[in-house]
Amino acid sequence: MTSKAKELIIRQPDDWHLHLRDGNLLRSVVAASANVFRRAVVMPNLSPPITSINAAINYKKRILDSLPSNSVFDPLMTIYLTDDLSPKVLEEGNKSGIFFGAKLYPANSTTNSSHGVSDLNAIYPLLETLQVLGIPLLIHGEVTDKNVDIYDREAVFIDRNLHPLLSRFPGLKVVLEHITTDYAVQFVEKSQYNLAATITPHHLHINRNAMFEGGVRSDFYCLPIAKREKHRIALRKAATSGKSCFFLGTDSAPHTRDSKESSCGCAGIFNAPYALESYAEVFDQEDALDRFEAFASLNGPAFYGLPMNQKTITLVKKSQLIPEFVQVKGSHSPSQRISIFHAGQTLKWSILSSSLTQYHNSHT
Ligand code: NCD
Ligand code: ZN
Repeated sequence: MTSKAKELIIRQPDDWHLHLRDGNLLRSVVAASANVFRRAVVMPNLSPPITSINAAINYKKRILDSLPSNSVFDPLMTIYLTDDLSPKVLEEGNKSGIFFGAKLYPANSTTNSSHGVSDLNAIYPLLETLQVLGIPLLIHGEVTDKNVDIYDREAVFIDRNLHPLLSRFPGLKVVLEHITTDYAVQFVEKSQYNLAATITPHHLHINRNAMFEGGVRSDFYCLPIAKREKHRIALRKAATSGKSCFFLGTDSAPHTRDSKESSCGCAGIFNAPYALESYAEVFDQEDALDRFEAFASLNGPAFYGLPMNQKTITLVKKSQLIPEFVQVKGSHSPSQRISIFHAGQTLKWSILSSSLTQYHNSHT
């Protein structure tokens, strides 16, 4: 496959990091993911967060109830680690099979993380349990120390927290999520541990200037915050390298206009509706379309020890104009609009509609 390719057929991808929210918001956004991705790791940072087996079971049911009919989308549920979570919950949840992974938010690191972990040492019994049970640990890798510059918080987390954690729990399967720096890229590449990283579409497309182009642009504010251009370049190299330690995780994080634009606006970029096309554009620009399937559809299942998806999806090199927003169901108010990443831009790749077909060995 070269950059001149007009069509790209890959196994159906999965999204290994997704925020689906709840209620009307969930019903308004879930189809965008379910129409493209076969599985998605669903983040537990609801308000209140998912900290019990029942909460996860009920949330999964609400997601399944919100899906378009005939959808086979498989939401993989996560539990939100807190200082006082009992290892028993992990053990029982593991028996019932409800927890795909455990999510570590350092307390107050991002949206709805106030119940997160305040002292990593205090949850070592939980990490020990995860290691024994073989449940992956999914990490929002930023320190919350206000003395650390916001642009340095990922790198400091790696040195201060991640490195010691990995050497203390060498058998733990760990994903450093939504990496944003060349430092994280190198750390993951060189790691001798069971460590992988997800990369979002937005961190491949924008650098930190996007937030301040002609004024403050809340639509480009997310956490971890976009960094300098050299980091974006490093992330593009990593994602398109084909290396098995990097895979797709959109971190699509919908917020309505009124919650983005206030005196304390929320972090998060809603990219689900055109995520695959957005990634494809990057791989095309980097002349790496032949490695797109590895990043989108193969590396994730291989890391997690899951089967590859059996269907394929077809992308075609056909330009499309990206709409501005999704309206939250049940409301007509402009305050209840969710801006879409790439709004008003033209993307060069499109998904061939109804292109999901059974995988044949002839597709390579
Ligand atoms: C996410 C959200 O809104 O839930 N926000 C974001 O900027 N990515 C939380 C997160 O993953 O940090
Ligand atoms: Zn996230």
